[in-house]
Amino acid sequence: MSKNHEATSLRDCLCGSVGPTLVGQRVTVCGWVAKRREHGEHLAFLDVRDRSGILQVVVDGSVDARSEYVVRVTGVVSHRPEGTVNERLATGEVELTECDVEILSAAEAPPFQLDDRVEIDEQVRLRHRFLDLRREKMQYNLRLRAAVNRSLRAAMDAQGFCEVETPLLWAPTPEGAREFVVPSRLHPGEFYVLPQSPQIAKQLLMVGGFDRYYQIARCMRDEDLRADRQFEFTQLDVEASFVTQDDVMGFVSRAVLDAAEEATGVRPGTIESMTWAQALDLYGTDKPDLRFAMLLHDLSNVFASTEVKAFAAATVKAMRVPGGAAMTRSRLDQLTDQAKELGAKGLAWFRVTAEGLDSPLARFLSETEAAAIAGVDDAQVGDIVLCVADEYANACKFLGALRVTLGSPPVSEGPHRYVWVTEFPLFEGIDEDGNPQAAHHPFTMPHPDDLDLIETDPVKVRSQAYDLVLNGWELGSGSVRIHRADIQSRVFKALGITDEEAQGRFGFLLGAFRFGAPPHAGFAFGIDRLVAIFAGEENIREVIAFPKTQSGTDLMTGAPKDITARQIRELHLKFAPKGS
Ligand code: AMO
Repeated sequence: MSKNHEATSLRDCLCGSVGPTLVGQRVTVCGWVAKRREHGEHLAFLDVRDRSGILQVVVDGSVDARSEYVVRVTGVVSHRPEGTVNERLATGEVELTECDVEILSAAEAPPFQLDDRVEIDEQVRLRHRFLDLRREKMQYNLRLRAAVNRSLRAAMDAQGFCEVETPLLWAPTPEGAREFVVPSRLHPGEFYVLPQSPQIAKQLLMVGGFDRYYQIARCMRDEDLRADRQFEFTQLDVEASFVTQDDVMGFVSRAVLDAAEEATGVRPGTIESMTWAQALDLYGTDKPDLRFAMLLHDLSNVFASTEVKAFAAATVKAMRVPGGAAMTRSRLDQLTDQAKELGAKGLAWFRVTAEGLDSPLARFLSETEAAAIAGVDDAQVGDIVLCVADEYANACKFLGALRVTLGSPPVSEGPHRYVWVTEFPLFEGIDEDGNPQAAHHPFTMPHPDDLDLIETDPVKVRSQAYDLVLNGWELGSGSVRIHRADIQSRVFKALGITDEEAQGRFGFLLGAFRFGAPPHAGFAFGIDRLVAIFAGEENIREVIAFPKTQSGTDLMTGAPKDITARQIRELHLKFAPKGS
């Protein structure tokens, strides 16, 4: 047969590429035995699997090739006999006959069936990840990831960005998560830190004149693991000089849209944007999921001088749940508990019926109040209206969380709805010392119109920080950075960071800025999250070759593990005994 680029010294082609056009030719394929079926005493059918798919080969019954044996098979491509064509298989019209089989490797019986249709315990999968990776789904997910990376690189290269690798052994970064530390052998008692992101390094690259930088960067954060969080993850990390926020959003949009087109075959339209304040007001979150409506409505004016105790608060937010009147009392109790766990005082609900509102609170409402609730979002008979009364931000957040619980489709469903969220607040919350906290990181540039508020009303200061959100997941975030020493010192001051502390933590960056810092801005998004959504996976573990479990262990290697006494000595480590 003619050579193809998959041909090697051991094989002519991939299993999945053998089809009717090759009938009559003798070909050699290599792969694993996915299944063996005996056919009488003298014949057996083997499904041979490689990364491209499955090919049926007909062998002598005496051939000792069982499940997951590695084989090399040479045979003649033949039409399958009538009535035996398998339409579910890409190679289902053909099979290899007159086969010579060489066993390249024997295999023990696998601990689970390598079949995508079978539900397998995740612990078992992770313990034997090397086997799990042979499954079609994992092959697909990791190849999808590679394709996404390839298209991100191409998009950044095409926009004039230069890929630079930054160190993994580094000093603390200002992202705020707990860091992984690495003891130094040569410097007793001193530690490197694994970067939470290349944040400071990329800003130094701007000072270094690389005015368009990107990196597919590994980042490490010692934080609690969740469906969308691992200790190690990968960002497309971007920074550029002499740009505005809009420029950066443009570069990143292009990369994401190219990757989306590559992954899904469809190019999404332009990415819409809304301010952080709008997102909070309408969706009750800075990560709005635009796949479904159920927007929050503000009834504060209607309830401004209410007699109903439950509604006596600064803000009353309401949300219509279509068809929600069918929810049982116990479901409503669950939702109330969820709201209370977040800090709400309670949850009021009103079923919309032909006779009016049905709720324990209904009889306390004035006519205007009842009419306002019944009118939320054009409520219809059969709907339910949920209300939360609290401080403004709380009311939004509590109801926003219920909106997600009640409305959010599975990751694999619905369109991909991207949205830029802009004008995040510069500070969030107040710490124990009475200082506001940096919402993004301390180098984020305040909004030019709000500079005067830094000292007088810091929580009102908007920033030039922006997030990219996809279907309710935060894909990434970025900001225009402070490159002016005067603004930086005002922000540090507001954060309660003394000059001395700033010097100690970020001295090398601030020092570098004294030598000509260009105005710059950047962004980073999580590739694991993007690929998980493209693959329709709820957990980023499904798009990572060797992930950690929820409790941070690697079931395959056993990490984290003890190290030898010698390593402990060389690293100058002393421990309290385990469990003390
Ligand atoms: P941030 O901390 O928001 O910003 O991170 C950017 C994106 O990285 C992804 N991400 C994670 N993915 C998986 N597991 C994790 N533990 C994890 N943590 C973060 C998310 C997140 O949106 N240096 C700044 C960016 C900048 O300002 O340029 C930064 O890292 O998708």
